[in-house]
Amino acid sequence: MIHLHITSWVLAIILALYVGHGYKHGQKVKVPHMILRLLYFVILGTGLYLFISIPGKENMPSDMKMLYNVKMTLGIIMLGVFEYFTVSSKKNRKMVVPATIFTVLILALLYVGFRLPQGFHFFA
Ligand code: HEM
Repeated sequence: MIHLHITSWVLAIILALYVGHGYKHGQKVKVPHMILRLLYFVILGTGLYLFISIPGKENMPSDMKMLYNVKMTLGIIMLGVFEYFTVSSKKNRKMVVPATIFTVLILALLYVGFRLPQGFHFFA
């Protein structure tokens, strides 16, 4: 399940950049945008599953619980930021703020995600 989670957010990042770029240059990116929206459900579903299927999480140390809370909250906010980023580009708004929030959140998610025990732990 961790691989599906990783695959889905990697694809979503690529698609969000592609769709944002496409709208800015007047290309037709409606279908990739729809696929991106479907991926939000895959990311959310796999993320929640990864958490729910942790055995004995009632006895998890509180700092670890906190880290999971931060990870999942940031993850859910990121889904909104994907939409904020692509729609800002569609409406021809200035992209500095959406692009900054996008980058900062992704970096934070990679850091927290790779600190947590399942899958890879580059920062643990
Ligand atoms: C675009 C949004 C997201 C990104 C970029 C992201 C990124 C990551 C990364 C880098 C990992 C670690 C993978 C590994 O160690 O191999 C991870 C794991 C995880 N993610 Fe996400 N994630 C996102 C959304 C979500 C959402 C929405 C949820 C749940 C509501 C979630 C819950 C989890 C959980 C529970 C884990 C397993 C952590 C562990 O036990 O090691 N993620 N994610």
